[in-house]
Amino acid sequence: MSGNKHFAISDKESDKTVLVTGGAGFIGSHMVISLVEKYPNWHIINLDKLDYCSSLKNLASVEQRANYMFIQGDVCCPYFINRLFATHNIDIVFHFAAQTHVENSFQCPAEFMRVNVDGTLVLLNAARDSGVQRFIHISTDEVYGERTNRSFDELCPRRPTNPYSVSKATAECAALSYWTKHKFPVIVTRSNNVYGPHQYVEKVIPRFISLLQQNKKCTIQGSGLQSRHFLYVDDVTEAFLTVLEKGMLGEIYNIGTTCELAVTQLARELIKMMQGLSQDSDVDGWMEFVEDRPCQDLGYPLIFDKIQRLGWRPMVSWEEGIRKTIDWYKENSHDWLDTEVFEPRSQPLPGAKRMNQQLEINSIDQHSDTSAHLTE
Ligand SMILES: NC(=O)c1ccc[n+]([C@@H]2O[C@H](COP(=O)([O-])OP(=O)(O)OC[C@H]3O[C@@H](n4cnc5c(N)ncnc54)[C@H](O)[C@@H]3O)[C@@H](O)[C@H]2O)c1
Repeated sequence: MSGNKHFAISDKESDKTVLVTGGAGFIGSHMVISLVEKYPNWHIINLDKLDYCSSLKNLASVEQRANYMFIQGDVCCPYFINRLFATHNIDIVFHFAAQTHVENSFQCPAEFMRVNVDGTLVLLNAARDSGVQRFIHISTDEVYGERTNRSFDELCPRRPTNPYSVSKATAECAALSYWTKHKFPVIVTRSNNVYGPHQYVEKVIPRFISLLQQNKKCTIQGSGLQSRHFLYVDDVTEAFLTVLEKGMLGEIYNIGTTCELAVTQLARELIKMMQGLSQDSDVDGWMEFVEDRPCQDLGYPLIFDKIQRLGWRPMVSWEEGIRKTIDWYKENSHDWLDTEVFEPRSQPLPGAKRMNQQLEINSIDQHSDTSAHLTE
């Protein structure tokens, strides 16, 4: 198989079946919606366990579409996943499903390894055996670890510093080994922080928005000097489609941005926008500094020339993206989020039972105790 061969994504008439894992979560739900809307002749299967951070309400705009199907299930269950691939002729996999919250990973590192590594291996095996044409493995900038005096390109070593990034680094090694050993068509992406509608409130931007909506102060861990690069979610889904269409097999693509904000600066901007303040002195009263988490990396500046050479670049400005995000949380916070938002849900949402189709696998316990661990 040639690593240079382009995938015929532009042929909208062709009939492809796409599996998106974790499609009821933040980024996965935007990916599903984008695929369903852009490729009406493709069949989009959203496989999600419906963990605490997910919601089928994220998919409301596409749930009635003929080319969309939701299946509730766990990527860690080989029997279930093998049956899924045996009963659907899957051409493309976008693998988003993961445990994603760094702070939780300190409480239950083994669970992060189980879902993020074992789950990836289960999927890779099933996908390889059934002859999938593209496996886009979604990884993260966090695998680069502690910031150095230069930006990270794809050849920089992995130096993960927390259980989440260790599990993601391990998972991408596993994925790339399937290319090396079996020439299974894997491509890995590592993106900067993503923000936008649908993100669960444990992550920094929705957490600050949500606190401010409740007239509470933004809680900033440590000095707040740590910074993050923020990409709007629509730009990231475009990047994934670019990689699908033009990416080289067995390669890694950074998905980056120059939009960098220190956490205190982020809080200041959100406070000004949401509380209608203009004076810095007024803003200070809305910030509270709390204990830092362990191993807080200072930031992950990326060199992303490689994906830019494929024709992708971020298009949504910070001003536009954050405005859309705030508006979404203002309009949706009452039905999607809990009023007290900082405890992860221990049970799937009621909407979890409304699925378009259920595989004939009734014996599988789809509610393993993952979420219970996360609430401890
Ligand atoms: N959000 C970011 O800033 C960011 C940045 C870079 C990379 N990523 C990566 O992108 C992917 C998606 O991130 P997100 O922010 O949308 O996460 P998220 O936590 O919002 O969504 C994860 C989804 O995976 C599902 N899931 C968890 N365990 C599962 C299992 N065992 N079986 C099936 N489904 C399961 C959850 O129910 C949820 O819907 C992750 O792999 C993450 O590492 C995220």
